[in-house]
Amino acid sequence: MPDTKPVQYRIVDRSGASNGDERARVVEALLATPARIEPKYFYDELGCALYGAICRLPEYYPTRTEVALFREHRSDIADAVGRGRQFVDLGAGDCCKAEAWLPFMSPARYIAVDIAGPEIERALARMAPDFPEVEMIGVVADFSAGLPIDDLLDARGVTFFYPGSSIGNFMPADAIAFLKTVRVQCSRRAGSGLLIGVDGKKAKSVLDAAYDDALGVTAAFNRNALLHLNTKYGFDFDLDGFAHRGFYNDREGRVEMHLEALRAQTVNLGGRSRAFTAGERIHTENSYKYRPDEFARLLRDAGFTSVRNWSSPDGGYFVFYAA
Ligand code: AVI
Repeated sequence: MPDTKPVQYRIVDRSGASNGDERARVVEALLATPARIEPKYFYDELGCALYGAICRLPEYYPTRTEVALFREHRSDIADAVGRGRQFVDLGAGDCCKAEAWLPFMSPARYIAVDIAGPEIERALARMAPDFPEVEMIGVVADFSAGLPIDDLLDARGVTFFYPGSSIGNFMPADAIAFLKTVRVQCSRRAGSGLLIGVDGKKAKSVLDAAYDDALGVTAAFNRNALLHLNTKYGFDFDLDGFAHRGFYNDREGRVEMHLEALRAQTVNLGGRSRAFTAGERIHTENSYKYRPDEFARLLRDAGFTSVRNWSSPDGGYFVFYAA
């Protein structure tokens, strides 16, 4: 007999909700000085696969450190968060991090939010048969511009889950604005809170290696943003013309990634053109690193009043629960 289990998840596309003229914004940012590409353009299908590979690199410690921290403090964290809630996975990707929590949190509803639609669809198709009692919804959205999920939630408490230290990819002021958005959602439903992974400040040598690995996977991930934009918008970036730069900027407390023009060149942006001088950089990502007191202050600035955290044994990575 063929397996004819009904499909137990649904996908809601909210990617158009905040887009406006996305292409015009991309062109404008590339014409600016310094030129910029938003980090969301890393995450096409190939970029998601490359990010998966980064998470397995010996130099890239955040993923495995967070997994170990969750494992070590699993029941303590689950007690703090509570069970039977609605569980909103922000930047869900392949949903693997949340999947490990589902048996412990027993949520009534699981909402995976990510800009990468095909990736969450694949993940929900994989997970749904194992969690028949959990209502599963995938939301395709760029949630950095707002959280378009209010109509998908009911009155029960919500656990917002934002692992992987992705909050570091926001500028601090934008991080507060984003945390405020989550806090407003929490305030509408008793018993809600945010479980979030945060990468700490550490030796420059460790951070430099984590964002410029020996195998060149992070370099490929960074340069793939050019390939993605070429495909999506018909630009003609020459991938050989740009090199990856990834390093810790001590003064700013953040890792920066750039693409550096290896020679003078002009890129056709479909109607407009952008001349780059040799050595000129396109800024593609910031990854802020926080001391625990700095991040606790961010949470309080966003309106959270109850804040606790768990730390990795080396004190270099944190998980916060804020309510
Ligand atoms: C998704 N984000 C938390 C990663 C980071 O560490 O900032 C993205 C990344 N960029 C380079 N390597 C990984």
